[in-house]
Amino acid sequence: MERTPDLTRQPATGTAGIDVEHQLQFTLVETLLQAVASGKPRDDVDALLDSLVDTSNIHFQGEELLMRMHSYDGLAQHVEEHRLLLEELAGMRAAFESGQDAALTSGATRVLAWLASHLRTHDLALSAFMAQGGLVGSGA
Ligand SMILES: [Fe+2]
Repeated sequence: MERTPDLTRQPATGTAGIDVEHQLQFTLVETLLQAVASGKPRDDVDALLDSLVDTSNIHFQGEELLMRMHSYDGLAQHVEEHRLLLEELAGMRAAFESGQDAALTSGATRVLAWLASHLRTHDLALSAFMAQGGLVGSGA
């Protein structure tokens, strides 16, 4: 499988728990792509999808709680971004359930690009806000 370069080497947000969860999201999507490409059993792909959805839900809830706790101005836009990603994950689940590996792979590839872009924009903006208020490290 061709691996998109450098997507997992993202700038740290400065909040340890958030950085670890971002890394886990990247790893799960990449592992899922490899599992599909190498024809791993459906149960394995199923479990990876579940882990990706669960991790993303928990991660987004943590970030959103942090933003609400600190009355973050960019909350609505950031939450909308999270919602779109969860929609994409639901699309991946539907593709998997209907045996459409190509659609599953396309969805996962879009999710990788989304994660990289989201991290460089919305999450770094949140990180800068946290740093400004001396709040770095107090998050999830
Ligand atoms: Fe985020």
